[in-house]
Amino acid sequence: MTHTISVIVGSLRAGSLARKIALNAIALMPDGFEAKIVPIGELPLYNFDYDDPESAGTPTPAEYTSFRETLKAADGVLFVTPENSRTIPACLKNAVDIGSKPNSDVAWKGLPAGIISHSVGRMGGYSSQKNLRLALSYFDMPFPGQPEVFLGQSTSLLDSAGEFVDDSTVSFVRAYLARFAEVVREHQHS
Ligand SMILES: Cc1cc2nc3c(=O)[nH]c(=O)nc-3n(C[C@H](O)[C@H](O)[C@H](O)COP(=O)(O)O)c2cc1C
Repeated sequence: MTHTISVIVGSLRAGSLARKIALNAIALMPDGFEAKIVPIGELPLYNFDYDDPESAGTPTPAEYTSFRETLKAADGVLFVTPENSRTIPACLKNAVDIGSKPNSDVAWKGLPAGIISHSVGRMGGYSSQKNLRLALSYFDMPFPGQPEVFLGQSTSLLDSAGEFVDDSTVSFVRAYLARFAEVVREHQHS
């Protein structure tokens, strides 16, 4: 049985380090797991009118529906995000809000989740990761407790091909993904 993981990258820029880290993580997923990036850049800015049955003339955008269906079909979600202004980038918050509605069918609800944050500075996107956990805390999503992955000085972690330079980074991220995979499996058995 193959487990599918949606990977959400909290950066839209072409040269994003978060995207490179996400691609490394996808390659390091345990056997039996298939992960792929779900794009969030084309999602219209969240507006509750789209989800409000009382708001005529503002149908739910097709991009919202397809994003929600992709999440609901997955066995888990892995976020890989930088930090902007001490919190999550706006594109990621937009995706979180879109996944949080409608109340009757919340895509995030109960979905096992993992987070890898990074920063070009030393703190590894600490505030971003904590803020993302806070934003998701309403949806009863199982997370690995430990380890937590804050990748600081991320520019130095990747080579010119976008691959992790050090074996220690590979082992650390692999161990995290193994723990995340356990959470996904446990959730499916429960
Ligand atoms: C608008 C903006 C705000 C930022 N705020 C923070 C911040 O609060 N903390 C931090 O560590 N880095 C911050 N940075 C630096 C980012 O970590 C850095 O640009 C990183 O490479 C972005 O991730 P990406 O390569 O995945 O796009 C900020 C960058 C931008 C453009």
